[in-house]
Amino acid sequence: MESNDQSLLASTCTSPLRGSIRVPGDKSISHRAIMLAAIAKGQTSVSGFLEGADAISTMNACRALGVRIEGPNKGHVLVHGLGKHGLSAADHDLDCGNAGTAMRLMMGLLAGQSFSSTLIGDESLSKRPMRRVADPLGLMGAQIVTNDGKPPVRIVASPGLNGIDFSMPIASAQVKSALLLAGLYAQGHTRITEPAPTRDHTERMWGGFGVKVEIEGASRSLKGGQTLHGCEIDIPADISSAAFFLVAASIVPGSDLILEHVGMNLTRIGVVDILRLMGADIEVINPRVVGGEPVADLRVRSSQLRGIEVPTSMVPLAIDEFPVLFVAACFAQGQTIVRGAEELRVKESDRIAAMETGLLACGAQVRATADGMVIEGQPDASLKGCTIQSQGDHRIAMAFAVAGQRSSGVITILNTSNVATSFPGFVGLAKVCGMQVEQQA
Ligand code: S3P
Repeated sequence: MESNDQSLLASTCTSPLRGSIRVPGDKSISHRAIMLAAIAKGQTSVSGFLEGADAISTMNACRALGVRIEGPNKGHVLVHGLGKHGLSAADHDLDCGNAGTAMRLMMGLLAGQSFSSTLIGDESLSKRPMRRVADPLGLMGAQIVTNDGKPPVRIVASPGLNGIDFSMPIASAQVKSALLLAGLYAQGHTRITEPAPTRDHTERMWGGFGVKVEIEGASRSLKGGQTLHGCEIDIPADISSAAFFLVAASIVPGSDLILEHVGMNLTRIGVVDILRLMGADIEVINPRVVGGEPVADLRVRSSQLRGIEVPTSMVPLAIDEFPVLFVAACFAQGQTIVRGAEELRVKESDRIAAMETGLLACGAQVRATADGMVIEGQPDASLKGCTIQSQGDHRIAMAFAVAGQRSSGVITILNTSNVATSFPGFVGLAKVCGMQVEQQA
């Protein structure tokens, strides 16, 4: 992607954030809905699907493997599943674009197929580590060829997989989900143990498709050979996208904003818990369960935040929200320390480095560490206008759009077209509730 492909201009928010908005559908659940539906028997009807580039990459990969998929049309998708052994070889490489979840989960799905496939990605994805999935899949008998641990990833036609009992060295829902997907195709049981809880959307969704997964403490095990049956999936709004508004409304004085129908899965609400520890005023309204996932409306009112030491146990539960949490910490009273978040260095960009560079350019007092950040909050200060490199990373771009709401000058964020990977329509929705942000071609 070109470094000047599109910019965002964010500037001082002169009035409070108000109203009631619904952010787009959950990205993690959207990927999983399409993949599981593709290998289910019969039709799966999906609503609330994220029509962002990442989830579309998964959809196009499944189409290339022979699956007929209608939509997306206003979040509705109809997948005509082919059953576990119904996929066929694509006649081209499967392009996962910017989406790590697409690539890593597809590795698991493709490892058990009787044909070979190649997964490719964009410049950012091509630099991301894939051994974390390739190595354990190898233990299951898969043959995976990478470019020194990075994409492209070639998955060689499988002679048959065997189940494994594997303890993951890192807390990663992508690794867990990929191995459990491969486990569906394996002889015997596959048992995966995680070092800390990670998002459990795959396990939950399997219930709807009729797959039995046993959960004992930190371990999940499933018996190979189970059949998936098409079902209905209702995807809630993405808490990772809602996070930008939780922080913006917290730091812009006088704000009072409702975020509707937000996914509140316990493995995803770290951002709400961390902001509350910092003194944020977030009310959970009308909690309910929709399609096996907890959902609620969130009311957020501005408040004076305070610096905290983020408990390391909360880090995997808020892993995608740290860019905007670092912004929140800049306006908190006192110091905020984040540790144990070294995974941020291998996301769509090195998010620790990208945030340190950008926040320093804005005049914030921050110091990156190997596994996190130390931020000296300046509750009464404004950031200063400057130009930021988003590194083509959607969450860095949106985090600085939020930072701009408390800046004395314009923050220009470069290379922001990838915002559409997770949050199509971000600028429009931000403006609806009063944020000062413009898009520049
Ligand atoms: C995801 C898991 C997380 C997260 C990513 C989505 C998923 O990655 O950062 O945005 O959908 O499983 P890791 O598994 O690498 O922690």
